[in-house]
Amino acid sequence: MKAVILAGGMGTRLRPLTYSMPKPLVPLVDRPMVMHIIDSLPKEVDMVILAVSYMKDRLEEYFDENDCGRKVVLVNEDTPLGTGGALKNVSSHIDGAFFAFNGDVLTSLDLANMLAKHRSRKGIGTISLWDVDDPSAFGVVGTTADDRIDVFQEKPKRGDAVSNSINAGVYIFEPEIFEHIDDGVVSLEREVFPRILGKGLYGHRFEGYWVDCGTRESYLRAQSTLLSNGLAAIHECTFKGSVKMPGNNYLEGARFEGCTVGPNAVVGKGAAVMEGAEVSDSTVMEGAIVGEGAIVKGSIVGPGVRIEKGQIVGSTIIA
Ligand code: GTP
Repeated sequence: MKAVILAGGMGTRLRPLTYSMPKPLVPLVDRPMVMHIIDSLPKEVDMVILAVSYMKDRLEEYFDENDCGRKVVLVNEDTPLGTGGALKNVSSHIDGAFFAFNGDVLTSLDLANMLAKHRSRKGIGTISLWDVDDPSAFGVVGTTADDRIDVFQEKPKRGDAVSNSINAGVYIFEPEIFEHIDDGVVSLEREVFPRILGKGLYGHRFEGYWVDCGTRESYLRAQSTLLSNGLAAIHECTFKGSVKMPGNNYLEGARFEGCTVGPNAVVGKGAAVMEGAEVSDSTVMEGAIVGEGAIVKGSIVGPGVRIEKGQIVGSTIIA
């Protein structure tokens, strides 16, 4: 079975970090974002197809250098074709039911269970659904009592939404879907889904967690979700003086001197947090330095960035 990961977007909401790396390669706790998806795939998935465009060379390089245990094929779009166009562009590699993922969602979804449900219903597709309190910023999905999808609403006004269920960005499709995607730039959510409603499109609700990592806030939420779900750890760090580490953190190959790190802090290889500095609800990527007495809170500090002595960094992305 094949899995397609949509990985060609420009990740504008994570700029300036995504000026120097494509969003799928942005580190999330212990590995790049896209690897969290690949590692969650059921055993029967033997080929991963990445639909790429923006910074495709960086992705090519990563998969040349790192073995992820499955065959990985990158399919390029010279100009981004949108989520539907990107799927159609990989159709020559597809020979049966396949998974498709937005490349920036992190979920506890049991994919084998979703596949079993998809097979039992014999529809053209199954869309994972996640219930939220306020669906107005998302693609909202209405279903009948037997989970057949009968309505799509893109970012409805608060109060107008037909349900609290949103499209969680993980799909299973039959190859027949390609017959309903025109050539060129096409949106899966806006153009294709409304068109195939009558063909047996089902929703699949799940429990646990769902976070899309496309903005600073949601990226940091994803990070704290992973830290509280078993990824908190300390590997090969050096500590000098009294270092306080409240809450869940992931610290790898970094140096800490008389500082406070945590809660919800990730500090990467070769990074350093100096005397009197505080890092919380933030990520400090490889080789970055947080200077003496500096405070980093609710922020993403990119690779090699230097936060000066006494500098205060709050709710921002620095790269
Ligand atoms: P923003 O610019 O911040 O909105 O991020 P984005 O470019 O990633 O867009 P968005 O979050 O809406 O995309 C959802 C998923 O679809 C991401 O995994 C993107 O990489 C992917 N995606 C979006 N547009 C395209 C496209 O034209 N081609 C391909 N291959 N993937 C796309």
